[in-house]
Amino acid sequence: MAQSFSLLILTLFFAHQYVCILIHFSSDFTEGYFTNFRYSPKIFHHTHHHEIKKPYISVHALAKDLIRLNFEVSAYVRIRCIYRLVNKQTASIETNMTAILNTRFLNNSYENPFMNASGVHCMTTEELDELANSKAGAFITKSSTTLERAGNPEPRYISVPLGSINSMGLPNEGIDYYLSYVLDRQEKYPNAPAIFFSVAGMSIDENLSMLRKIQDSEFNGVTELNLSCPNVPGKPQVAYDFDLTRETLERVFAFFKKPLGIKLPPYFDFAHFDIMAKILNEFPLAYVNSINSVGNGLYIDVDKESVVVKPKNGFGGIGGEYVKPTALANVRAFYTRLRPEIKVIGTGGIKSGKDAFEHLLCGASMLQIGTELQKEGVEIFGRIEKELKDIMEAKGYTSIDQFRGKLNSL
Ligand SMILES: Cc1cc2nc3c(=O)[nH]c(=O)nc-3n(C[C@H](O)[C@H](O)[C@H](O)COP(=O)(O)O)c2cc1C
Repeated sequence: MAQSFSLLILTLFFAHQYVCILIHFSSDFTEGYFTNFRYSPKIFHHTHHHEIKKPYISVHALAKDLIRLNFEVSAYVRIRCIYRLVNKQTASIETNMTAILNTRFLNNSYENPFMNASGVHCMTTEELDELANSKAGAFITKSSTTLERAGNPEPRYISVPLGSINSMGLPNEGIDYYLSYVLDRQEKYPNAPAIFFSVAGMSIDENLSMLRKIQDSEFNGVTELNLSCPNVPGKPQVAYDFDLTRETLERVFAFFKKPLGIKLPPYFDFAHFDIMAKILNEFPLAYVNSINSVGNGLYIDVDKESVVVKPKNGFGGIGGEYVKPTALANVRAFYTRLRPEIKVIGTGGIKSGKDAFEHLLCGASMLQIGTELQKEGVEIFGRIEKELKDIMEAKGYTSIDQFRGKLNSL
């Protein structure tokens, strides 16, 4: 009974507003502010939900809202709200408002910018297959060394409320394992998006010999050289040694002609951003990926009065929410300092569509997810895509290029 009554009111209301809706459809006003009007404190101050959500709207609730709207807001606002309310029923009319996440990166097309971060969910061919079959736009292999490595003793990865700490010690199956996987996949699925391949040698020579192998192979994807992992004991990792970084890149680009990006650790000083960007701008790099884990954090279990990972007396790389501001700063710093041909991949602290949006605003082209993928599994890609699309639609963006890099200053 209540349902029929609501439907009746709804019908009358639609008839009354029909003309207004038509006017709206013909307008090019796309700020999309009212997608979530029921949660907007500006209209309904009795709600405390400010976050962006697309609520399920029952017919009854819809009718109640329409009546309330009629009294509470201006005619113009009403038109916007009605349009949004009926968009479930008239989805087809909204097709040209729908945000798409399609991303061009190094002459390759991806359905969306999301991928795993190297080291997470990419150690075995089974995990790589799962990524390939997930909603991720692309995927990357585990950083490989020449030979397989067992890595450090366990426990070596711990998930904590705001992120993770790890001291894995680069366990991996060796370059041949991953190379044969990607070559095989390339042959089987020639039209699939280009794959990313990560290498992390323990010395320059090891890196050079692995890159030679990739150069000489049929691999037609993108190679990522991880310059942010331990090198010679007692020396900093390569990318914290600016001279060694330049020397490495000189030797790499003397023979390596395929698209190559580098994975960088976080920097915390403007002088370091400047010096590093100046070096990188000298080379035909395809991209930089910022950031690797924030190095050598310590997480403590107060009950046990103990560290939580075994290697290195508990010191380990930090990922997740802890590192997002550092990651955003590094993405922004390199985006604004590098030649525009050198793209930036944003990695660090991405767990929601909002985090992804922030990385894109800072200038990221692709987005990698580590800690949160480890926590949620590959389902995260569907969720985060939807969240990013919802934010874009609420803001009236239909493609990422409309806001990428356009972070406002005050
Ligand atoms: C378990 C684990 C293993 C990782 N292994 C690698 C690796 O092999 N190569 C690499 O470049 N980064 C590695 N990383 C760093 C991640 O790729 C990523 O840069 C970092 O975790 C920050 O992203 P997040 O905040 O989404 O976790 C690893 C991270 C974790 C948590």
